[in-house]
Amino acid sequence: MDVKPPEDVGLFEALYSTRALRRFKPDPVDDETLFQVIDAAIRAPAGSNMQVWHFLVVRDEEKRRQIGEAYWETWSTYGKQYVDDPTEIDKLPRQMELVVRSTDDLARNIAQVPVHLFICGPDGAGGTVYPAVQNALLACRGLGLGSVVTSFHRGHMDKLGPLLGLPDGQTAHALLPIGWPSDRIGPVGRRPVHKVTSIDGWGEPWQYALDQPEQGLRSRWTGE
Ligand SMILES: Cc1cc2nc3c(=O)[nH]c(=O)nc-3n(C[C@H](O)[C@H](O)[C@H](O)COP(=O)(O)O)c2cc1C
Repeated sequence: MDVKPPEDVGLFEALYSTRALRRFKPDPVDDETLFQVIDAAIRAPAGSNMQVWHFLVVRDEEKRRQIGEAYWETWSTYGKQYVDDPTEIDKLPRQMELVVRSTDDLARNIAQVPVHLFICGPDGAGGTVYPAVQNALLACRGLGLGSVVTSFHRGHMDKLGPLLGLPDGQTAHALLPIGWPSDRIGPVGRRPVHKVTSIDGWGEPWQYALDQPEQGLRSRWTGE
């Protein structure tokens, strides 16, 4: 898919092509572009419209290095088998291989991604800040930026909280590494509607959905 200027990316095209992008060019992200991402993110709905989110942008090289260390610690535990023996990645089924390889690449290189955007809020308030996370992702898509929701930092808030100056009771619910992507944009593959939807009672099939193509309406919006 092409990277179009923001005004040319339609809403549904964005919904069907905003996938996890984990590899980035080293080029910086300018203030105007970053402001547009956050200004779109804050349009998200929030419980009682309390807007308890806080967006913490990290560009500082030394802080990104320390964030990268914490991120790597999680991946080298969670993805231990792949870190210990990278040839294990080659043996995975194709789709899984691509996801694990890009997850591993990001874990090795996250410190070099120009912007680390932490979406923060009170402990336990993840549900009310996550719509803003998705808005930020879609805004990135519209601007030709890449990003991915990440959470590997979450196990290291004891170290990252002080590094980022988070007040007590606040946590970083998501970390979006943001930059100009070197991976290809979209399209997004998912389990089809009929597998995840019931009618009038859990597990009751929806015949209309069963009659639709496995890829749903994706090709209407992405051409693929
Ligand atoms: C709550 C949440 C936490 C995630 N944490 C991570 C993470 O720490 N690292 C990572 O590389 N991807 C992370 N992801 C990204 C998912 O792996 C990704 O969205 C999913 O595999 C779909 O990818 P796709 O859009 O490319 O199909 C997270 C996604 C969500 C929603």
